[in-house]
Amino acid sequence: VEATPEWAQEVRRLARERNATILAHNYQLPEIQDVADHVGDSLALSRIAAEAEEDTIVFCGVHFMAETAKILSPAKTVLIPDERAGCSLADSITADQLREWKAEHPDAMVVSYVNTTAEVKALTDICCTSSNAVDVVASIDPDREVLFLPDQFLGAHVKRETGRDNIHIWAGECHVHAGINGEELTEQARTHPDAELFVHPECGCATSALYLAGEGSFPADRVHILSTGGMIDAAKKATSTQVLVATEIGMLHQLRKAAPGIDFQAVNDRASCPYMKMITPAALLRCLVEGADEVHVDLAMAEAGRASVQRMISIGN
Ligand code: 13P
Ligand code: SF4
Repeated sequence: VEATPEWAQEVRRLARERNATILAHNYQLPEIQDVADHVGDSLALSRIAAEAEEDTIVFCGVHFMAETAKILSPAKTVLIPDERAGCSLADSITADQLREWKAEHPDAMVVSYVNTTAEVKALTDICCTSSNAVDVVASIDPDREVLFLPDQFLGAHVKRETGRDNIHIWAGECHVHAGINGEELTEQARTHPDAELFVHPECGCATSALYLAGEGSFPADRVHILSTGGMIDAAKKATSTQVLVATEIGMLHQLRKAAPGIDFQAVNDRASCPYMKMITPAALLRCLVEGADEVHVDLAMAEAGRASVQRMISIGN
């Protein structure tokens, strides 16, 4: 199946027929982004899913995102074009591991990144995304211990920004972002001395970006640690003609649309998420024709996780 204009028309027609809205994450293939009703980061898409008027949500993203939509709207049908689209970061902590960790810190508040399974969310006090992680942790009583999971690089960013020392960070990582490393960044900084730098906080290089800023290779006002949605807003305001982008490469499509005058370059052009890319034009078409794969979350588990996700969508902008 090719992403032809006929394919796009058929996708739109089938979505109308099912009374479905199509949501696509910023890391999706360009043709999937272009056919969707809404494109955005994890937080924006969760908010849209919670308020959608349609009966069906077709989530072009990874499984935990579709699960989050189902937790928020249990009465809706939530479809994902390929249920095998997982996430290595969400897999880096299990519910049993979290139970054990909580037992060691019984009074702590549990803050989980939205990149977690529904089972982990059910054991969580507040979920967050990269857009509002700092605001979420800052909203917690400063004397209260915090367990932050599962991403160690986002955790380090939050710890630095909030200045808290009573935050314990789980040692998980996203294999795609962890692979965007300091060496590549140093080299890019050296060869593009006038560029701005957008870094996703899941990157292994987030810390080195700040280090480079400190070293003077990158003046601090040119380094921006941002969620994928934050990158789009920053692109619209950017003053330089070149921006280096340290995140999954699907991001470049929306950035180029948002600011056509800027030359966006990937820090690592091999940083492609294999799970995000499972949502192909063929998979989306099949999903709309067959009404599959449907996402189910156990009702009791959804109930247990809902408060943490609702707190997430109410904090930050
Ligand atoms: P955001 O879109 O919230 O920045 O998340 C990035 C990500 O890795 C999702 O898997
Ligand atoms: Fe998960 Fe990383 Fe892929 Fe995002 S880019 S979906 S965190 S594996």
